Amino acid sequence: MRDCADVLMDGLEQLEYRGYDSAGIAVFEKGVIRTVKTRGKLKCMAEKLADEGKPEGFCGIGHTRWATHGEPSDINSHPHSNGRVTIVHNGIIENYAELKEFLTEKGYSFVSRTDSEIVACLLDYYYAERDPLRAIMETVRELRGSYALGILFKDFPDRVYATRKGSPLIVGIGGSEYFIASDIPAFLKYTKNYALLDDDEIVAIDNSGVRFFDIHGIAVKKQTQTADWNIEQAQKCGFPHYMLKEIYEQPEVVVKTLDSIVTDGVPDFSDIGLTDELMRDVKRVFVVACGTAMYAGIVGRYAVEKMARVPVTVEIASEFRYMDPIVGEDDLVILVSQSGETADTIASLELAKSRGAKTLAVVNVKYSAIARNSDMYIHTLAGPEIAVASTKAYSVQIAVLYLIAFRFAYARGIILENEMRRLTAQLYKAPEAIRDVIENKDECQFIASQLVNVETLFFIGRGFDYALSLEGSLKLKEITYIHSEAYAAGELKHGTISLIERNIPVITVATQRNVLAKTVSNMEEVKARGATIIAICRKGTEFAEGTVDIKLELNIGGELDDMLLPLPTVCALQLIAYYTSVLRGIDPDKPRNLAKSVTTE
Ligand code: M6R
Repeated sequence: MRDCADVLMDGLEQLEYRGYDSAGIAVFEKGVIRTVKTRGKLKCMAEKLADEGKPEGFCGIGHTRWATHGEPSDINSHPHSNGRVTIVHNGIIENYAELKEFLTEKGYSFVSRTDSEIVACLLDYYYAERDPLRAIMETVRELRGSYALGILFKDFPDRVYATRKGSPLIVGIGGSEYFIASDIPAFLKYTKNYALLDDDEIVAIDNSGVRFFDIHGIAVKKQTQTADWNIEQAQKCGFPHYMLKEIYEQPEVVVKTLDSIVTDGVPDFSDIGLTDELMRDVKRVFVVACGTAMYAGIVGRYAVEKMARVPVTVEIASEFRYMDPIVGEDDLVILVSQSGETADTIASLELAKSRGAKTLAVVNVKYSAIARNSDMYIHTLAGPEIAVASTKAYSVQIAVLYLIAFRFAYARGIILENEMRRLTAQLYKAPEAIRDVIENKDECQFIASQLVNVETLFFIGRGFDYALSLEGSLKLKEITYIHSEAYAAGELKHGTISLIERNIPVITVATQRNVLAKTVSNMEEVKARGATIIAICRKGTEFAEGTVDIKLELNIGGELDDMLLPLPTVCALQLIAYYTSVLRGIDPDKPRNLAKSVTTE
């Protein structure tokens, strides 16, 4: 049997990309639970294990914590124990204050400032009859919020229980070994087979095997699924960082994603229920998402409105869920997410469903909550995205949104089949253009060398270029810590231009020919105020002498429709952010303060 501490440490390392500030494990060592935990990264854990001795055993739990309630500290790190129970918890217990009061009255005291410790106490409280399953069932009935829990009861050595609601948790099923994890890479080197838990289902794992129970404690059978990810996809494979590897993968994953949707040269969504009839009848489209996925939604909005003349609103999920949106059964709500586990996007999905809207998920992780709970689901095939900064997931999201735009336009009688076919063929040319940007990465490296010491910069653009500016700016700030803002080029003079002074870089995305002249005027305006202009444009775009300081020309042979240029252009923006981050001595894969999946509000 494998050494549990090693497996736990390795699994936590595989999920390091999700972001954390403390770590810990608890292992049954000769029938007794031994916990080792510490503030800091896994290397601090490794040092502590070396100092204190690694717990020896075959069964245990581990967790990397991203602080929400209580600062990062040894005490607040997981696992938490109280009474006879030790747990790890991913998520947020919203009613922890009232539960704490209840438990305090019952005589419990607490050592940490976390919401998670409350769960350990509550489990202990309901463990009066020494029935772990009953204790878990009673406990989850009391919890509000989100949780994925790994649980050890000291009276049941070498047995792990787990349950979840709202937070991801999957069960890896090897020959005679089992794993619980938030994501597949944690156990991919041992098995590709896994089972999913529905909300409040419970799994028990011990020497006799794995058993699943529903919320009433009734045994349930689970289907085993097989991951289509392989271990190489979840490794750096010679690249210095996951982010660079994932940028390089874009041409391939875009084609893969297109291939999964395009049949006989045209996009076909009928198998998931996104029929021409539905597209014809829909009155409005909402795209709801967070961060980069939301910016992909803005590209999608421009494409769908341009092509299909149907109104599209892009909403930030954390706003949508609380704004009492005017959304109903005539509307299509598209939830875009890499992880499929983003808390605000999940809540928006539930809200849209409750209002009778049709919901469509565009999600990269097929076992995720958003993918599973939407009426319709398109699986983007980016493969595992490990770097915190999203790159290839964005590209496949916009590729899918283009295909939706083409089909929408066809379904609504705005374009004929031939035009849909032509546009789809055009989209297949985008990966070549992305490849070309990657081959000419030196130019992005040069731009990065000019940005490395700046304190603030701006991105501007119009239309699709504005959508890209938003994404380019987010990418740059999240991994370089340089302050950056993106503006619709025409909006700058309504206030923000007062911030422009000598040598402030303004990265101008100027690929869209229909607004080029207007964008050029905006470039002139900031140039006149001393800005350094970095222009990203189609090859052969001419600017008046003295306007542009650095020009990055996209070599797309004039073939690609302007509408599709976000695919190669974003690659240039990603590379600029990546190289700037590296030059500043930052690890672009794990920027400070960020988590890969934002499973809390
Ligand atoms: O998993 P999701 O696509 O739902 O995540 C949404 C955002 O949290 C995510 O895109 C975030 O903005 C990235 N760090 C951007 O690189």
